[in-house]
Amino acid sequence: MNEYRLCVMPGDGIGPEIMKEGIKALKVVEARNDVRFHLMEAAFGAAAWFETGSCCPDETWAMCDRADAIIKGTVGLSLEESRKIPVDEQPERSALLPMRRRYDTFANFRPVYLPRAFNHFSPLKPEVVGDGIDIMIIRELVGGIYFGEKETGINDEGLRYAREVLDYDERLIKRTVDVAFETATKRRRKLHNINKSNVLKSSILWTDIVMETARDFPDVEVHHMLVDAAATALCLNPGQFDVMVMENMFGDILSDQAGGILGSLGLMPSACLGPEKAYYEPSHGSAPDIAGKNVANPYSMIGSFAMMLDMSFGMREEADNLWKAMESVFAAGYSTGDLSRPGGGIRIVGTEEFGDRVADALDRTGDS
Ligand code: IPM
Ligand code: MN
Repeated sequence: MNEYRLCVMPGDGIGPEIMKEGIKALKVVEARNDVRFHLMEAAFGAAAWFETGSCCPDETWAMCDRADAIIKGTVGLSLEESRKIPVDEQPERSALLPMRRRYDTFANFRPVYLPRAFNHFSPLKPEVVGDGIDIMIIRELVGGIYFGEKETGINDEGLRYAREVLDYDERLIKRTVDVAFETATKRRRKLHNINKSNVLKSSILWTDIVMETARDFPDVEVHHMLVDAAATALCLNPGQFDVMVMENMFGDILSDQAGGILGSLGLMPSACLGPEKAYYEPSHGSAPDIAGKNVANPYSMIGSFAMMLDMSFGMREEADNLWKAMESVFAAGYSTGDLSRPGGGIRIVGTEEFGDRVADALDRTGDS
């Protein structure tokens, strides 16, 4: 029997609700396989700050250090609530970014996937979505302007100013670009290098490294696209993309846009891989406005569990079964309200019912 330790961080807002559904699916995975997951629940996020004075208390770090993988819900509160926490202690700055740095989780996989059968979820016209959307965004996650030097103050003219540095060296770029090429090799062998080399020196270096690396991957077709053009292309012709690789901040923005073309950020799971540790999280925020109402879409969370099964524990087949279980719930006409479009004919179910249906479908996988 394989046994693994998981650090579970439900977080804020809708985090705890969607985490519950992910764990529900995980219990089914345990029942169907020779595997046990020992769950260690840890405080992380704004709620943790109000309780303990830290968004990531020492015990949480200790649990993360001991864990074989970390699974995280969402963090952050409404702007109003967040402002009660000093800027540098807010969860994004004091917990999430430090976690990315601590485990050096540089390779952020954000799948953007909508099979043809679910074209009606997308706000794009069916003829634009065509055969469906199947993109893997690889976002560099521990460099760039997020982690560069920062300074605020009053300048010589007596004006308030802020200055932050976009910093990359070739080692940081190369390891992400390598991951992107390797990923493209396993998919449709097409890679878009998303950059802003008409303005940014960091993008020129990034593009040089993509070109150098391309020599080692002659089977991969490489395209270079400016990030602003890519934003348009995602709306006009998403089918042209297979793997897209980009620096941290571009990836933050384009991955949310990608959620938009699918129809909901609730369809955006993610995996954040470092040399020794990985963590998994939905790509979206904590949606405090809908928290506790049993309406949030747990797909992004359950999908993050599926990515964990595959990428941390080598359970590719069961991960596929979990994806298929979610698709079968959509195929039966059920979804949470975020995916409801006029004329879509969706039967809207709550967070829990969606999770129950996924767990049931997974449980029935393999039955004839
Ligand atoms: C994401 C989020 C984070 C980011 C925030 C919460 C710091 O938006 O994972 O995309 O900007 O990276
Ligand atoms: Mn984001």
